[in-house]
Amino acid sequence: VTDAATPTTAVPPTLRDRIATVGQEHLLNFVDELTPEQLGAFVAQLETIDFERVPRLVEEYVNAKPTFDAAQHDITPPTAFAFDDPSWNRDRFYDRGAELISDGKVAAFTVAGGQGSRLGYDGPKGCFPGGAVTGKPLFAMLAEWVLWARKRFETDIPWYVMTSPLNHQTTIDFFDEHAHFGLPREDVVFFQQGAMPSFDMRTGRILLKSKGEIATNPDGHGGSLRALHTSGALADMRSRGVEHISYVQVDNPLARVIDPVFVGLHAGAEGSSAEMSTKVIAKIDPAEKVGVIADVDGKTGVIEYSDLPDDLAAKRSDNGDLFLKAGNTAIHMISVDFVERLNQGGSLGLPFHRAEKKVPCIDPDSGTPINPAEPNGVKLEMFVFDALPLTTGSIVYEVERVDDFAPIKNAEGTDSPASSKALQTERAARWLEARGVAVPRTADGSPDCTLEISPLTATCSEDLPGDAMPREITPGQSLAL
Ligand code: UTP
Repeated sequence: VTDAATPTTAVPPTLRDRIATVGQEHLLNFVDELTPEQLGAFVAQLETIDFERVPRLVEEYVNAKPTFDAAQHDITPPTAFAFDDPSWNRDRFYDRGAELISDGKVAAFTVAGGQGSRLGYDGPKGCFPGGAVTGKPLFAMLAEWVLWARKRFETDIPWYVMTSPLNHQTTIDFFDEHAHFGLPREDVVFFQQGAMPSFDMRTGRILLKSKGEIATNPDGHGGSLRALHTSGALADMRSRGVEHISYVQVDNPLARVIDPVFVGLHAGAEGSSAEMSTKVIAKIDPAEKVGVIADVDGKTGVIEYSDLPDDLAAKRSDNGDLFLKAGNTAIHMISVDFVERLNQGGSLGLPFHRAEKKVPCIDPDSGTPINPAEPNGVKLEMFVFDALPLTTGSIVYEVERVDDFAPIKNAEGTDSPASSKALQTERAARWLEARGVAVPRTADGSPDCTLEISPLTATCSEDLPGDAMPREITPGQSLAL
């Protein structure tokens, strides 16, 4: 925006009116102090804001806190296909998925526009060293799945990467430095997600980052469903013949970026409209902080863990499993048609979620910088899973946890680099043990070593080539295959 802006000496009157009409005129308090270049950039930024929508957003999400009352709804488990349930034919769905992938109808898609504030890493999260042994960047680990699928299914698979205005150029530079991880440059497509203004928590006024810039935040992973359309990525998919999008987050190095069984279930399973499907893991601990996929009043959707009452979270089925056990991995299959339909009429129709954050800003009256010690701002984000209830039928594919899920969210503890490393090791250990390799384990049963298996070596135990197999693993050893 800054580069493209034309220098100016005045705020266009129509823009001034639009801003005043919705009570946000404080935004223009300092325009007289800006240079023509600064003002041009500011006007360009202001023009991107949908001011007419601001009063409703403030009323609904800043002044109020939307709540979900589970007691008011009929909540049941979704239609699920579990990896260990022999009643459905896995091979049939593998074949269906493999056919779609081979025909070039499936694209990989990674949302990488987040700010990664919990991890506290300085840079796009995809550049974070995620490999348990190799320290490979997360982007490299995902790229290997795309490389594997291209080879396995002998087809060009485009990989779309969504960034945000805050990390777009750094991400592109990183891919350049790494020669696109061996993928053809034309098959890696970057596009930016949108931004939302950040609001003052007390007043509902849009926060000013400086005298000539409003404070914004990326509009959430749900913003991907809009950005796919507005950026032209969807049209690019169409021109390549892509019909289905395999959606993964950047911070899960175990995600099978292209999974034939999941593709096949999404496209062909009974109960699936082939619009949007979810990969889940069985929730074991009722207190686990993961959203669950459930049918709410007959519509599949996600109930966030914070919205799930303790008794419902702990309720069990006759077989002893949790009644609502479909833990969301944030891995989805989404059809191109569905994303197009969502964008018809201009508004996605997804709700916003509010998060209270510390947002550095200036005082809109005095211009003094404020570095808040406590949350002062409300950020509004859309979540991709809110599109699930907009489908006409959605299914879940339950996979084994270590097979697909080792997210890196926090600096320490659950979902941290250390827990991801342990899960990557556990998955590799199981694959090796299934092939007769002895893996040293400690008294508590966890592997006494660090292991990492690239999808380019194997994507399951049976895949492990005999000559790659170690004869022995010694306690404390680090081994990458
Ligand atoms: P998270 O919800 O974990 O958020 O994103 P985050 O921004 O990465 O991390 P925190 O909350 O600041 O610590 C899950 C996935 O969605 C992407 C992230 O890049 C990650 O892959 N995401 C999130 C976006 O692409 N855009 C967003 O606006 C938010």
